[in-house]
Amino acid sequence: MTIPATTRAKTSPASGAEPIDSADGQCVSPSEQAEAVQAMFNTIAPRYDLLNHVLSANVDRVWWRRTARAFTHILQNPDATILDMCCGTGDMTLALLRHRPANSKPVLALDFAHAMLVRGAQKFSSHNAIAIEADALHMPICDNSVDLITSAFGFRNLANYEAGLVEMHRVLRPGGELGILDFSEPTGLIGKLYRFYFRQILPRLGKLLSGSTAPYAYLPQSVHRFPAPLQMLARMRACGFSQASWTPYTFGIAGLYRAVKA
Ligand SMILES: C[S@@+](CC[C@H](N)C(=O)[O-])C[C@H]1O[C@@H](n2cnc3c(N)ncnc32)[C@H](O)[C@@H]1O
Repeated sequence: MTIPATTRAKTSPASGAEPIDSADGQCVSPSEQAEAVQAMFNTIAPRYDLLNHVLSANVDRVWWRRTARAFTHILQNPDATILDMCCGTGDMTLALLRHRPANSKPVLALDFAHAMLVRGAQKFSSHNAIAIEADALHMPICDNSVDLITSAFGFRNLANYEAGLVEMHRVLRPGGELGILDFSEPTGLIGKLYRFYFRQILPRLGKLLSGSTAPYAYLPQSVHRFPAPLQMLARMRACGFSQASWTPYTFGIAGLYRAVKA
């Protein structure tokens, strides 16, 4: 089944309470933060894929595939309900779709940035996926209905991490699994190199390729404010998840958080 049309649901910005500082050091409310994130992704959408692949030297493809492989036991079940949250231009969704057998239920691909989602929907228009334009903190999805939620490089952008975890916990079935793929800040020599690249090179390269400074100044800031793995695992447990684990990818530059709804 192919459902290329974008299903538009609630698109108002996320609310929440994660403390954020703007580039000029001012405190920004969570809803202003969510609006800014939404606007930023809508602006960079036309160049998002190119920039992603150039700036990560294509390692992002390996991470998406590795994440999808971690959940083949669920993806291979044609009746499983799969949700790719913060799907953006759809590469994580495509990696998941590769593992779906014929005649499976469609993968749900959700994002609140219209321009990102439209590109994603074009990419998976010949595959079995449904695009849903909605806020990850208020998903138009029933309680206890999803077998697997993935989120690649999206969760970090939420204005309130607790609210995001609670919402994912709400829609997962008991026994359902969660996979959050995101950046982290490695330590040691790799950490030093990484910070130099992330803070000095990446914003300049990003500006050169996209003509815009903000998104690539925002990226290192957002990674810095994202909880370190042990803290993130504690937050997942506090929101009702069990078997929480983190697997570092590529020297801990990125990593996969996994957990199960008990
Ligand atoms: C860095 S992109 C990642 C896209 C894709 N998953 C990937 O791996 O390339 C982050 C995405 O998260 C989405 N996002 C951030 N906050 C969101 C929210 N509250 N609700 C829905 N989508 C959100 C953005 O619109 C953006 O498309």
